[in-house]
Amino acid sequence: ELEETALREQVKQLLVDHNAVLIAHYYTSPVIQALAEETGGFIGDSLEMARFGARHPAQTLVVAGVRFMGETAKILSPEKRVLMPTLEATCSLDIGCDADEFSQFCDEHPEHTVVVYANTSAAVKARADWVVTSSIALQVVSSLHEQGKKILWAPDKHLGDYICRETGAEMLLWDGACIVHEEFKAKGILDLKKVHPTAAVLVHPESPASVVDVADVTGSTSQLLKAAGELPNDTLIVATDRGIFYKMQQENPNKIFLEAPTAGQGASCRSCAHCPWMGMNSLERMASSLKEGSDEIHIAPELIQNALIPLQKMLDFPK
Ligand code: 13P
Ligand code: SF4
Repeated sequence: ELEETALREQVKQLLVDHNAVLIAHYYTSPVIQALAEETGGFIGDSLEMARFGARHPAQTLVVAGVRFMGETAKILSPEKRVLMPTLEATCSLDIGCDADEFSQFCDEHPEHTVVVYANTSAAVKARADWVVTSSIALQVVSSLHEQGKKILWAPDKHLGDYICRETGAEMLLWDGACIVHEEFKAKGILDLKKVHPTAAVLVHPESPASVVDVADVTGSTSQLLKAAGELPNDTLIVATDRGIFYKMQQENPNKIFLEAPTAGQGASCRSCAHCPWMGMNSLERMASSLKEGSDEIHIAPELIQNALIPLQKMLDFPK
């Protein structure tokens, strides 16, 4: 505890010394999210993190989350230094979408508009017509569908399937998944609802269709957070990474939040879903990164130019 307090103070000082701002995702640990709040930094979903980093005047952005979030920050602000607590923090969606294989898939379907999820490498983004995050994916694909476009979607098949069902767009899906959300089970959630009959169910759309089907609200992390505040229910069952509970509980101190059960766990599940890569972010690693300038994001300038085009379209898309 003492050590953690000292580390927190050290990181605070390092942020000041390096003219740096901390931008954290909702899935990082409570201690990192609290530090972002205390130091005038930011906590948000992946779209909001990108917007905040691009607008903030600090010369160094410290992005606590996973690698694609740091890369997105760099693509939007190439003149800034972007540090991460660790560059090892990746994502199963990014790993499962190799840029060369993806490019070949696109070449095989030239009549399709290529829409990729932000959880991808800069090289995959550079091959896309559009980049989207889960909070804007439905609107962008609806609008493309209205223009009569056929969509090639990558990499998350569950999110792709959800968007396809919601919009009715013609979509070809890449076969990728989030290892955290893929594990939620509809049966476990329904069993938990029997114990808590007044509970509403919140689901992130990276979950399988069977889980989305039992949701009262489906949405990105920030959309679920908003719903947690607006719904009248006193109890909420939440199918997303447990990191979100920090903000949900802070904003709704009188509500009860329950983790949705994952595979193999019944209604007694206590601590199920947590992304192993988000979990790699720590105060120690943040301190070393700031002290040593290690774990800095570097992307080739021409890749930045090409990946910026579909990313900028997302940021300019009318809300
Ligand atoms: P959000 O865009 O909802 O923040 O989700 C991205 C994600 O999966 C981070 O791991
Ligand atoms: Fe990727 Fe899933 Fe982890 Fe998000 S929670 S970073 S989508 S593996």
